[in-house]
Amino acid sequence: MRVVAARKRSLRRILSRGQIRRRVRELAAQIRADYGGGQPPVLVGTLKGAFVFLADLVRQVGLPLEVDFIMVSSYGMGRTSKGQITVLKDVTTDVAGRHVLLVDDIIDSGLTLQFLRDHLLSRGAASLRVCALLARERVLAEGVAIDYLGFPVPEGFVVGYGIDYAEQYRHLPDVYVLEGER
Ligand code: IMP
Ligand code: MG
Repeated sequence: MRVVAARKRSLRRILSRGQIRRRVRELAAQIRADYGGGQPPVLVGTLKGAFVFLADLVRQVGLPLEVDFIMVSSYGMGRTSKGQITVLKDVTTDVAGRHVLLVDDIIDSGLTLQFLRDHLLSRGAASLRVCALLARERVLAEGVAIDYLGFPVPEGFVVGYGIDYAEQYRHLPDVYVLEGER
């Protein structure tokens, strides 16, 4: 009998919903301490990956704030960077003079972050800070500044809690590394 070698994918859990919930509360407390008493900040989530994180975060911050979204492309459906970033959906808020907190899912190379930072500052944001659920240990070692970081993560393709592989797995409440995928 001949068996065609199928590429088997499996999910290895690296963060539970409980760990994420606790960390989101801590990040929210820091954000509340930093922005409380000032002008309401605008939290800008990066679509689509940050939608779950942003939704959980804003309900824990407990301050008046505004929410907007931005969508950029650079990765397409697979896992390889195309190196070219374009804005697919811009913010609709006039961020001039506003305190902007960018909320991202995962900082991998840091290129998207650099692009978004430049983009929002060029719109006249009064300040710009970054909150990311995940960032690669590699990019942190390079000294990329992330004001509020959920968890550092090693290499490996991450999915769940809003983060996808080819539009799959966003609905999973925990975070996993996708294995058997090259
Ligand atoms: P960067 O520009 O290389 O930092 O890429 C950031 C974006 O690439 C993230 O916001 C994700 O959309 C995507 N990305 C990078 N690594 C992963 C991953 O492990 N899983 C899912 N998406 C990823
Ligand atoms: Mg993203």
